[in-house]
Amino acid sequence: MENKGNVIILDHPLIQHKISLLRDSNTGTNEFRKLIEEIAMLMGYEALRDLPLKEVEIETPIEKCMTPMIAGKKLAIVPILRAGLGMVGGILNLVPTAKVGHIGLYRDHETHEPHEYYCKLPEPIDQRTIVVLDPMLATGGSGAEAVDFIKQHGGKNIKFMCIIAAPEGLKRLSESHPDIQIYVGHLDRCLNKDAYICPGLGDAGDRIFGTK
Ligand code: PRP
Ligand code: URA
Repeated sequence: MENKGNVIILDHPLIQHKISLLRDSNTGTNEFRKLIEEIAMLMGYEALRDLPLKEVEIETPIEKCMTPMIAGKKLAIVPILRAGLGMVGGILNLVPTAKVGHIGLYRDHETHEPHEYYCKLPEPIDQRTIVVLDPMLATGGSGAEAVDFIKQHGGKNIKFMCIIAAPEGLKRLSESHPDIQIYVGHLDRCLNKDAYICPGLGDAGDRIFGTK
């Protein structure tokens, strides 16, 4: 695990291996979906290591004891539509009681700027740990705007999780929101002229949902 300011690169061998399989253009929709979910779960295991705990009383077959459980208002997971949806199941495997919000954004194909079309967040959002999910952080426009919306709605404790990031997007997101933690599976080389990540994995939404 590599830590630079508010950016944490999750370089675990299992995550790296599964990202390599994701990149392969021969990986079909079914396999791609499974890999996205598995990677989200492995990343979530690290990203949620600071969830607050409280001591509760439990009776074992032997005796009563005080033992730690996750405290307070539970987690909110917020996928950025569409591709972030693919990561939701992986986090729900870890915390099945988490609430799920949605932010709908799409990138304009000409300007590459994000446009919002949907936002619904679980209340009280200001008391929850919020994990924003999007497999791709390219220019960083969608990620930065999603975090802006969540803050406008009162969100405070925000983590952003992406599977592949470009240096440009990581810089934009970490500079515009220095108060959030950004978890990255792999930092790629650059963006191409169409603002796709190189080497990347292509269009994540299309590969998850089988569209073109
Ligand atoms: C993709 C991806 C991110 C965004 C990243 O979504 O899932 O949300 O692009 O690019 P950015 O960092 O330059 O903003 P897209 O806009 O293609 O929408 P989709 O998920 O509905 O396909
Ligand atoms: N969105 C994607 O799905 N892939 C990229 O490489 C860039 C943005």
